[in-house]
Amino acid sequence: MDHVRFDAADATLILACAKGAPVSILYWGGALHADTDCAELEGLFARQGMHGVADEPLPLSLAMEPGLGHPMFQGFAAHRAGKDWGSRFEVGKVELREGGAKIICRDERTRLGLEYEIDFDARTGVLRIRSTLTNYGATPLDVSNMMTACLPVPDGMTDIIGFTGRWTQEFTQERVARNAATYLRENRSGRTSHFSYPAILLAATDTNESTGDVYGFHLAFSGNHCIRVDSLTDGRGLVSLGALLLPGEVRLVPGETYASPEIVAAYSGQGLSKLSRKFHDHVRTKLLSPEMRAKPRPVHYNTWEAVYFDHDVEKLKELATRAAEIGVERFVLDDGWFGGRRHDRAGLGDWTVSRDVYPDGLGPLVDHVTGLGMEFGLWFEPEMVNPDSDLYRAHPDWVLGLEGVEQIPFRSQLALDISRPEVADYLFHAIDAILRDHDISYIKWDMNRDLSHPGDSSGVPRAFAQVGALYALLDRVRHAHPYVEIESCSSGGARADMGVLAHSDRVWTSDSNDALDRQVIQRGASFFLPLEVLGCHVGPAKCHVTGRRLSMEMRAATALMGHMGLELNLLTERTADLDVLKNAIDLHKKHRALLHNGDVFRLDSAPQLIASGVIARDKSEALYSVAYVASDAKVLPGRLQFTGLDPERQYRLQLMWPTNWQAVKGPSAIETLDLKGEGAIFSGAALMHGGLQLPHAFPETCLLFYVAAI
Ligand code: GLA
Repeated sequence: MDHVRFDAADATLILACAKGAPVSILYWGGALHADTDCAELEGLFARQGMHGVADEPLPLSLAMEPGLGHPMFQGFAAHRAGKDWGSRFEVGKVELREGGAKIICRDERTRLGLEYEIDFDARTGVLRIRSTLTNYGATPLDVSNMMTACLPVPDGMTDIIGFTGRWTQEFTQERVARNAATYLRENRSGRTSHFSYPAILLAATDTNESTGDVYGFHLAFSGNHCIRVDSLTDGRGLVSLGALLLPGEVRLVPGETYASPEIVAAYSGQGLSKLSRKFHDHVRTKLLSPEMRAKPRPVHYNTWEAVYFDHDVEKLKELATRAAEIGVERFVLDDGWFGGRRHDRAGLGDWTVSRDVYPDGLGPLVDHVTGLGMEFGLWFEPEMVNPDSDLYRAHPDWVLGLEGVEQIPFRSQLALDISRPEVADYLFHAIDAILRDHDISYIKWDMNRDLSHPGDSSGVPRAFAQVGALYALLDRVRHAHPYVEIESCSSGGARADMGVLAHSDRVWTSDSNDALDRQVIQRGASFFLPLEVLGCHVGPAKCHVTGRRLSMEMRAATALMGHMGLELNLLTERTADLDVLKNAIDLHKKHRALLHNGDVFRLDSAPQLIASGVIARDKSEALYSVAYVASDAKVLPGRLQFTGLDPERQYRLQLMWPTNWQAVKGPSAIETLDLKGEGAIFSGAALMHGGLQLPHAFPETCLLFYVAAI
């Protein structure tokens, strides 16, 4: 078998995997006709020899190993005490299965086996690749680099879209033109990171949200990573993703295997939003549990920005009562309930209820919350310890570090080596005891520092092992408590990847609850993650990270478009604002099934607007959000095209938010069409291709339109 071919409705993948040759991608892109002959394609794509380079064109492979002799980029580096470094892998066997293949390669000379597990979803065209390396030799093998896979950049993909940022500015998009230099993102923070989201898009110059070719790649991994795009001098390009391995971190003894993290990739010939919908489908159907999918996601109340470390049982009960009154369904007690945790310099590691602040334990608060009909959730940061803690005093050797090198200060905490079984056991039993003793159905699992010096007690780096140990610990907790949902948080959105989502249920998108920033952050996150896994909270009127004051209407509309929650002091809010908030929660609940199951269409617009829609799969209804994030140089904005509807159907269009909408001067289309009232009926085609003339609105306004088929 020289080729393996996979087809989806809008994409085809063909692997070249002739026995004895390297495995590579022959074609990946728009769907090819069923009759297309793979050998014919080989002929079409054949390259010639040239002066000044090797006499024969060098093959590409998924590993881009040194034995191929490429003078620029190589994606694999391993050796045995300086020898056996020049592997060249040849396909030995191909095992086909439904929707996928295992390609078994070997290099007899260096005695290594390399296997690729490849899946291609026939419904969505989502491609998944994992690779495993096995040392069949008699001596240890040091692996210093192994990309999960190196994939050819299809011609015409001139642009690279990366996702960068910082704390409270996650998922910032950056679009740059490809050139002869390498585009390289390396993450050595030991977590997914704020600054390098483990994903990349390759797009044509004119690709936008609704048109054009784009390829997306996500490394489903919550640790150190390397993502690069290389341009070879022969005109070809490669995009490669893999775990970033520290020196000495992967040393395979004879018979041992290294398993790479998975690449999740997709192609769209219809723009960026379509690509995102493929990723969303993947998260929904392959990562989230069916039970989780079936359950409406409860509206949260999280205590962090309301009380920080100032825990007082009576006040917390009052907050819970107030939260329940306005429609909250889950109360999450954040940091500060355990050990000596009266501030962020002590207590991490001591996972027992603090009798200083909870003299009768957590029971009374949990009972109060559940008595109000809400679920109870609790914050943990299991992987960390404060030096000022009983745990650290008992086990100072449990932390990661480098002997003789001072720990780098980072939120006054150190990272535990959770790959040590006794550490993982301690954490499991501590969490398990709290969950057993209380009616708790939700964990916010936080992680708030980089693994700056991730050496274990013998000095060996454990950053890669730490990720596997995290996943194992999450699974152990889930297995023991299958009805407890887990949120992945890391100083906001520093651990919000598809790797951790296979072991958890939602992510905390960002510590910024500033609605203007959140519009951008949530849009960035939506490139890969569906709205229902994105924690989106209404923060206090004055945002604690930007100092900006935004109206409740704006804050609530922004939080409503994800997994909605609140994170403000309900006891000090104005009554009028609480009424607005209650209305927003009602609206979220009314449209929750649509928001959490529908198709996302981000809309292209002028920079002062951020617009998107969520359309029901059967196109029977949709909710569109238009945020005015800055003043406009023009008198009026453009028309809003309601992308994603069915052009053949008739729809009723209504403005749902803000409920206090007032036209700025003369009546806008909202008034003339009575969109705030009964609404008006239009064809899908008119709404999609013509669109609605948007009104002038003050910056920091967010309009929500509801469209329902009649
Ligand atoms: C991190 C999280 C916040 C909050 C604090 C508590 O910063 O991102 O949401 O839980 O920790 O210390």
